[in-house]
Amino acid sequence: MSVRSLFARADAVLAQRYPFVLPALGYDAKSIEPAIDAQTMTIHHDRHHAAYVTNLNKALEAFPDLHQYTLGELLMGMRKWPAAVQTAIRNNGGGHANHALYWELLAPGSATSSTPSGQLSEMIVRDFVTLDACKAALKAAGLAQFGSGWAWLVKTATSRLVVRGLPNQDSPLLEGELPIVGLDVWEHAYYLRYQNRRADYLDAVLARINWDVAGAQLRR
Ligand SMILES: [Fe+2]
Repeated sequence: MSVRSLFARADAVLAQRYPFVLPALGYDAKSIEPAIDAQTMTIHHDRHHAAYVTNLNKALEAFPDLHQYTLGELLMGMRKWPAAVQTAIRNNGGGHANHALYWELLAPGSATSSTPSGQLSEMIVRDFVTLDACKAALKAAGLAQFGSGWAWLVKTATSRLVVRGLPNQDSPLLEGELPIVGLDVWEHAYYLRYQNRRADYLDAVLARINWDVAGAQLRR
């Protein structure tokens, strides 16, 4: 599968409108091993991600005025929506968008690319000096995240690359920042293989990031 088609699938989720649909994983659940075992990938996608989609649809059922908006618009426009539905959009809409990107960022075998190129490479050198320093910052953010959440590499409104730890399913889009790399540090992402060894999981996932998919985020 080409990098372009991988990216297009993550992007398509942000363009979805109610009723939202779980995208297919797009590759065999085994193809991320040994970094992430097939059982974890299957449960994570088929149950956890699916639940975010189901619950987002349930929450929006009673708000037909919101059915015209895309997932990206719902996340970026949070302050405009009725208070009664904001938390559901934040948690379940965020969960849908975050996981769609995460699946695409994991490189299945032949799609692996080990280093960023083009604009992303230039921005990493400008803002982190080296790719290793950028990865170290992502790992540190993942380790520092208390409880459930994500470590993010984002592009800010002023076009800087910054690493942030965000709780729960909060999307960087809520604050108008563009997600470039997202590392899921909920225990459901790693517990079967790694138990409490979150650092080992982060090392393994950082070694499997498809930096072409990450770079494609900048061209949105
Ligand atoms: Fe997750």
